[in-house]
Amino acid sequence: MTSKKRIVSGMRPTGALHLGNFHGALKNWINMQDIYDCFFFIADWHALTSDYEDPSHIKEYSRKMMIDWLGAGLSPENGTLFIQSHVPDHAELFLLLSMITPVPWLERNPTYKEQIAELRNKDLSTFGFLGYPILQAADIIIYKAEGVPVGVDQAPHIEITREIARRFNFFYGNVFPEPETILTESAKILGTDRRKMSKSYGNAIFLSDPPETIRKKVATMITDPQRKKRTDPGDPDICNVYSFHQMYSGPDMTAEINQDCRNAAIGCVECKQKMAESLIEALAPIRETTLYYEQHPKIVDDIIARGNKKAAAEASQTLDEVRAALKI
Ligand code: TRP
Ligand code: SF4
Repeated sequence: MTSKKRIVSGMRPTGALHLGNFHGALKNWINMQDIYDCFFFIADWHALTSDYEDPSHIKEYSRKMMIDWLGAGLSPENGTLFIQSHVPDHAELFLLLSMITPVPWLERNPTYKEQIAELRNKDLSTFGFLGYPILQAADIIIYKAEGVPVGVDQAPHIEITREIARRFNFFYGNVFPEPETILTESAKILGTDRRKMSKSYGNAIFLSDPPETIRKKVATMITDPQRKKRTDPGDPDICNVYSFHQMYSGPDMTAEINQDCRNAAIGCVECKQKMAESLIEALAPIRETTLYYEQHPKIVDDIIARGNKKAAAEASQTLDEVRAALKI
């Protein structure tokens, strides 16, 4: 037994991870591995709640995501890495929790209302989509998590999780701790077009992009929009390329760029080239490790199988307690 606090978090399988995902969640997870007893999983059932019409990529994307996790430095020795649908006990707990969850809790969930309004091209009037937070609650409390590292957009879901856990405990006795939200700072990183970085916007730089692709993408990045001519001074504070320098180029080069930009001593083309090289260098170890796992599918299979098994053992113990509490 470990005395570390247990945390649980999941990601929907969107395929290759981009820098936004990395700075938004994964980097924090990697840092947490030494401090917490971590259960990190790929939420492939959650992907189905909105993409049920064409699930043909989910399996491939789940695997790709696991490989990117490993490449970026999540360690199967340090935590438990698994795939949600491989631990079917989540579904049994989801069913039982759905019995006690009032529908208005789900209907008033801000994330639900937002998504219904935003994703107009999908028919989200399904029971599964409404019940998304119940499944998420099951994911979390099945491991008796004490904390859940998530971005602020997920905070309402963790609040519902706490409410569901409390209601269960009230009806059937104390089985579940109420997990805390551990807010991860949201990424300052924008896409090449200065919108939020997102795979679906086509503005993302992926962790696994080869150097040539990174150079091309960086060359298209929008800089300080006020800086029209090479002789105009720029303002690094509003430039996305500069934000990347701050993250990847080290303090000396970053200070120099700052000055040279303000004095029009450097042009954006050159500035981007420098940034691209810093980024390529920073991503090199990730890319190398990712390639290793891509070339060793057996090792990946093995890691997933071990993670699934560890998670299933924990989940099954909790479900024994749950059935006993319900007397069924
Ligand atoms: N809803 C989360 C997201 O879209 C993914 C998720 C599913 C999750 N189950 C979870 C996150 C449990 C934390 C804990 O990002
Ligand atoms: Fe941005 Fe660099 Fe151009 Fe300045 S010189 S506006 S920091 S890309």
